[in-house]
Amino acid sequence: MGTAPNIDYTLMNTRFGLGGQIVFKEGAGGMPLVMVTNSQAHAQISLQGGQLLRWTPGGQRPVIWLSPQAPANGKPWRGGVPVCWPWFGPHATETHGPTHGFARTSPWEITATARLPQGATRLWLRLITQTDTQSWWPHATPLTLQITVGTKLEMTLTTQNNTDIPLTLSDALHTYFAVSDVRQIKIHGLAHGTYLDKTAGGTRHSQQGPVTITAETDRVYVDTLTDCLIDDPLWRRRIRVAKRGSRTTVVWNPWEEKAAKMGDLGPQGYLNMVCVESANALENTLTLAPGEQHSLWVSYSCEEFKPRT
Ligand code: BG6
Repeated sequence: MGTAPNIDYTLMNTRFGLGGQIVFKEGAGGMPLVMVTNSQAHAQISLQGGQLLRWTPGGQRPVIWLSPQAPANGKPWRGGVPVCWPWFGPHATETHGPTHGFARTSPWEITATARLPQGATRLWLRLITQTDTQSWWPHATPLTLQITVGTKLEMTLTTQNNTDIPLTLSDALHTYFAVSDVRQIKIHGLAHGTYLDKTAGGTRHSQQGPVTITAETDRVYVDTLTDCLIDDPLWRRRIRVAKRGSRTTVVWNPWEEKAAKMGDLGPQGYLNMVCVESANALENTLTLAPGEQHSLWVSYSCEEFKPRT
């Protein structure tokens, strides 16, 4: 894991604090955190990993799930919105390359903050280039993340190819959504889509109806552009997952046995989360021409649950 630069919290609060709307502070294990509070929502971001950890719009339960266990041994936080980049899953050739790339374990910095006219707060983050990741990715490709905290949570992950060669890469916003009981939810928006089932050797299947989760689930839906709706009847809530610049949706829940082996989900944690990840992965991997830029945009919002007939 890359080392975070020494942070002068007083200076950061003066420079980017927007009069107290944004507060920089040291979290558990010395991890730099950014707390965002405005009239619409509350959020928390870790500068280690550029990882949004919490987002709770007014009048709602938390929308993003975060493990009660703080990370150990240089791992990213379990939960929130890990940034997977510039590869997804294991590295293609390097066995020591970290799963889902190095962005989620590298330090990021804030470059700007702003109050938006309707009351939301926007933050701009940039990945700090580390020398120890050069052997996996020696390319000049600035990576930025724009986060807007309001009644909606919007995130834009932008990769810029500043080299003079085409580059192939994957990206994902690996979002853990909080749910009442994963066995009760339905995920709409993927019906008739094709998915690669990673629990069955990557075999291809066609999705029939909404996705339900009653066992380990690890599916990569390819060529999907539509919004997903996570219907949660017990909490009477529907989470809308809208996206642009993403051709892949990943649905993941480790289920009981794998969760127990992972050790950082907390007791019964797997029942209260589901990952619906907006990505460009596997057969939807991106190729960026020299000078080209790509943005992956997501928007999350809560609606009232209405049973479908
Ligand atoms: C999902 C993958 O995106 O992330 C799964 O499809 C993987 O295969 C999961 O297990 C969690 O990955 P990690 O590295 O955060 O434990």
